[in-house]
Amino acid sequence: MSLHLEACVSDPTAGGLENLLSEDRRFPPSAEFVAQANATADLYSWANADRPAFWAEQARDLISWSTPFQEVLDWSQAPVARWFADGRLNAAYNAVDRHVEKGRGDRVALHFEGEGGDTRTITYADLQREVSKAANALTALGVGTGDRVAIYLPLIPEAVFTMLACARIGAPHSVVFGGFSAEALHSRILDAEATLVVTADGGFRRGAPSALKPAVDEALAKGPTSVEHVLVVKRTGQDVEWTEGRDVWWSDVVDPASDQHTPVEVDAEHPLFILYTSGTTGKPKGIFHTTGGYLTQAAYTHLNVFDLKPETDVYWCTADIGWITGHTYVVYGPLVNGATQVIYEGTPDTPHRGRWWEIIAKYGVTILYTAPTAIRTCMKWGEEIPGQFDLSSLRVLGSVGEPINPEAWMWYRRVIGGDKAPIVDTWWQTETGAIMISPLPGVTETKPGSAQVPLPGIAADVVDDDAHPVPNGAGGYLVLTEPWPAMLRGIWGDEERYKDTYWSRFRGLYFAGDGAKKDDDGDIWLLGRVDDVMNVSGHRLSTTEIESALVSHPWVAEAAVVGATDDTTGQAVVAFVILRGDAGVGESSPDEVQLELRNHVAKEIGPIAKPRQVLVVQELPKTRSGKIMRRLLRDVAEHRAVGDATTLADSSVMDLIAQGLSTPS
Ligand code: WTA
Repeated sequence: MSLHLEACVSDPTAGGLENLLSEDRRFPPSAEFVAQANATADLYSWANADRPAFWAEQARDLISWSTPFQEVLDWSQAPVARWFADGRLNAAYNAVDRHVEKGRGDRVALHFEGEGGDTRTITYADLQREVSKAANALTALGVGTGDRVAIYLPLIPEAVFTMLACARIGAPHSVVFGGFSAEALHSRILDAEATLVVTADGGFRRGAPSALKPAVDEALAKGPTSVEHVLVVKRTGQDVEWTEGRDVWWSDVVDPASDQHTPVEVDAEHPLFILYTSGTTGKPKGIFHTTGGYLTQAAYTHLNVFDLKPETDVYWCTADIGWITGHTYVVYGPLVNGATQVIYEGTPDTPHRGRWWEIIAKYGVTILYTAPTAIRTCMKWGEEIPGQFDLSSLRVLGSVGEPINPEAWMWYRRVIGGDKAPIVDTWWQTETGAIMISPLPGVTETKPGSAQVPLPGIAADVVDDDAHPVPNGAGGYLVLTEPWPAMLRGIWGDEERYKDTYWSRFRGLYFAGDGAKKDDDGDIWLLGRVDDVMNVSGHRLSTTEIESALVSHPWVAEAAVVGATDDTTGQAVVAFVILRGDAGVGESSPDEVQLELRNHVAKEIGPIAKPRQVLVVQELPKTRSGKIMRRLLRDVAEHRAVGDATTLADSSVMDLIAQGLSTPS
């Protein structure tokens, strides 16, 4: 694994470090907010006094156990943790049934807003019926406890029903983002050996139906898989191809199923889901999470970081269920806490650029959780747009997915939060399962751009190359120093890769892959990835995965991909390719080559991975051992003077690249 902490910490544009050093704006919580806040400063001392006991208390308080646990943390098989291992429970019971049993069946669980303006209101009692029906249908389709179900759906209520139906029968789900290609879906189905795929004819995207089912057909046509059935929700009414015996309509099997179902009790350490994420190699990692610890931390963080009041708040997290944020903060956290939330199928600019703010005004959203890239996009569109809507209901604002630059933070606070709603900048990962580092509203004096402090119960630090904690004012690598309940339990089917990726860099410490800095108060500032993972619009993409996609095209001999700083998306994918001499590129112009290769990546991985630019070069900068020096390519992609190139095998290569770029062939 190549690390480029140097580039990350010394380059002000990479993490805005220069800005960060001079950032002295502070926002203490208002007395009014403090008076009603869920979290108090005592949480820190309580958790510090006895961390496992603190988590045990949260687990008893926030989660209903069919068999209470006696064991708290078993770290004897480190780095694989077991939390609350002798307890038994069901995640869907916790997210749905218990609220109905407590007389809260009439509370709205989901306000669904379709892109075209169609809506559905789903109460907890409705959710119980829908999830039960889906669980009965899944069972009838042969899915048993422990079997894996792939979910490839738009953000519609059926996506939530399906995830919870899986949890209800103890079948781990593997949600694949609807924007991923057939190829990506295929590899995920194979890796998890899924027996059922749940999909839809399509979803609505930018005002038009966008098909999903063809990608499932294509994925399953690539070769034999363990899939027995494809369950299809009718959403757009698009024509679909049908494989008799394999494909079934949701309306034929779920709608008529019984709405009575008893949740299956599982062990706390039973896998709840697998979610694939990009790593430093070409093959995505199936991060898997288990039940008891994950739910505990999901509920605890959702309650305290967002100051949730389930009776009165209307919460909205804009993430898709295809990402971890959608798992923890659309499905499990909010529903386990009995919250009322909005889910929205579409894009922020359909049919107009005020759509999100219109939704907030319409439902009286009080808590908004979104990503810096969305905030920067809205900044670009202009503050007159949100200015047309009544956003006064908002009282807590969250940010996740990438570092939020202080200017975007200030804009979010002033324009969206009316200069009063506290902002929580939450750092975490697919692997951590839930929020790890964040201010607590009502407790922490916030600083624009910093995620600041590990939550009560979480232990993090910033260390140097030798694993020594850095002093205040210095930068290094972010590590987690104690096990936490929602931590991943491994990489599906690859125990060694789990150890190598996260636990081999620093002995006994979890290596997150992020650069970070401690300021003079000891607060943590995240500076971006230090490995070969890019962060584009808050989505993790692997340079190697995109390089593999590029070289799978017959025209391409070699490819190198870098993440270049981008004002809106944080980073953008820039690819450098060497074409094959005999490739048959023929008369194609550089623009045509670029278009062809960009589309090829979209087809292989998904549109989110499409390079912003594909630059054809004669040579790539390599060290004597043959390693591509991406740092130099990043300099080119960001139009900077090229840095130290003395370790190159052939130091004239950078001149060649620069010449080639300035004189289009
Ligand atoms: C980045 C998303 C800075 C980070 C929940 C991490 C952040 C990766 C923040 C995980 C934040 C996430 N500030 N960087 N508040 N939140 N990141 O797995 O690089 O999709 O390692 O999980 O996003 O991305 P993932």
